Amino acid sequence: MNPESPLDELMICRLDSARKAVEPCTIVIFGASGDLTARKLIPAFYHLHLEKQLPAKYRIIGFARREKTDESWRNELREALAQFSRTKPVDDPVWREFATNISYCRGDLTDTAAYDRLRAKLDSFGDATLRQNLLFYLATSPSQFGRVAEQLDNAGLLHREAAAGWQRVVVEKPFGHDLASAHALNSELTRFAHEQQIFRIDHYLGKETVQNILMFRFSNSIFERLWNRESVDHVQITVSEKMGVGGRGGYYEEAGALRDMVQNHLLQVLALVAMEPPVSLEAESIRDEKVKLLKSIRQLPPDSSAKQVVRGQYFAGLVDGQPQPGYRQEAKVKPESNVETYVALKLFIDNWRWSGVPFYLRTGKCLPLGASEVRVQFRPTPHVLFAAACGPRLDPNALTLRLQPNEGIYLRFNGKVPGTNIGVRPVRMHFSYDTEFGAYTPEAYERLLLEAIAGDATLFIRRDEVETAWQIVDSIRQGWEGKPLTNREFYGAGTWGPIAAEELLASSGHVWRDPQPIK
Ligand code: BG6
Repeated sequence: MNPESPLDELMICRLDSARKAVEPCTIVIFGASGDLTARKLIPAFYHLHLEKQLPAKYRIIGFARREKTDESWRNELREALAQFSRTKPVDDPVWREFATNISYCRGDLTDTAAYDRLRAKLDSFGDATLRQNLLFYLATSPSQFGRVAEQLDNAGLLHREAAAGWQRVVVEKPFGHDLASAHALNSELTRFAHEQQIFRIDHYLGKETVQNILMFRFSNSIFERLWNRESVDHVQITVSEKMGVGGRGGYYEEAGALRDMVQNHLLQVLALVAMEPPVSLEAESIRDEKVKLLKSIRQLPPDSSAKQVVRGQYFAGLVDGQPQPGYRQEAKVKPESNVETYVALKLFIDNWRWSGVPFYLRTGKCLPLGASEVRVQFRPTPHVLFAAACGPRLDPNALTLRLQPNEGIYLRFNGKVPGTNIGVRPVRMHFSYDTEFGAYTPEAYERLLLEAIAGDATLFIRRDEVETAWQIVDSIRQGWEGKPLTNREFYGAGTWGPIAAEELLASSGHVWRDPQPIK
């Protein structure tokens, strides 16, 4: 960014000085042979190393069952990096330097001896901080979380009570599959670690534009005063994906879009869009406000949720001109599966700010465009002065926060078409990240890993947050139980979802505004 005035410069300096202090530490990745490590974690660490954001001293240990040496694991990671790094080509001297920090520990998650080997490896590090400051990254199935924590506790590596250094546990989603299982997981984990040591990932919170929601809302005075029931007609949150479930059919059969996307990413975005201003930027202040918001969402009793929730499943079609099989034809999916690949919801937030304002959320696979957006649609003008010339309905004003891709914010309002006649047309004011700041697209995982190392839990989900979100989702699921999908709930791959989703909005006089490709 090119500072244009001393004021710009001042702002940038402030932001730079807010860079997190990070202490030397060791990161242990459990489930290190998995996809996540190769696709996300190692590329993220590589970039943090490249940008000199990691501590002056650090180590990364991969823990997994397969037989590998330090050397063979590094070679595997180097190949994966060539494929998944966001900057290409990989810088070889930087990689070699980075790779000296990486080693492998073979072991079964349930085998006590393996944890002894891990401890011996840690003990071999000369620097005490590398032995004591430990970030355990559990890229395993949630059913293993408790067991790994217990083994770490037995091996004297995870201390719930005050001990030298710090130990933190990062856990991947899905965090349970319903409220009861999430509650049980929480109880299991908190036997061995305090809530403050547990960092539950929702990678949407690491996205630059998702973080910008708070910055946008609470550092500008013009919009926040419109951010309420007086001015806002309704809000649409869309997270659409072009891809089908691909190789993840087995997982998806257990999850479905409601658990996979709504319980976490969509409700998190909703919470940030609608929450009250936090009293400070402390993690707990922000998380308190998010929980308050989630608790204000009107519960949907199972017997009436059908009126406010639509599910869908894609059948074969064309996405971008390419044939896409139907969900039921995907690998590891039951041919008669009723699992939803699309969900649309109409939610109400029962508080002073939002009473009566519908929040429409939708997400789906095999839609025409991969894009995430929040669209805040404002109330119509009380009277249309130009009705005689332009018709009784003007296009409503709307503010769109484009979360990805082509990140930006745009405001849609009506303008006069040049000419001697009175003609009105919607026009847009557009802020684009790329144009303003240049191409800067760190992966969400880079931010999240750094925050976990720094011990800042703001971008991680607190226990009560995850449990409240499950409560909302569970009651919807109960409403679906034992009910097969009907014809109105299927949609062709490459379309914007089932007809029932259109009807959901039409009943309140609204229509979905689909995200558009932006050049
Ligand atoms: C993951 C879901 O959490 O988020 C996937 O499990 C989904 O099904 C992905 O595709 C979407 O993330 P992003 O960052 O590509 O929008």
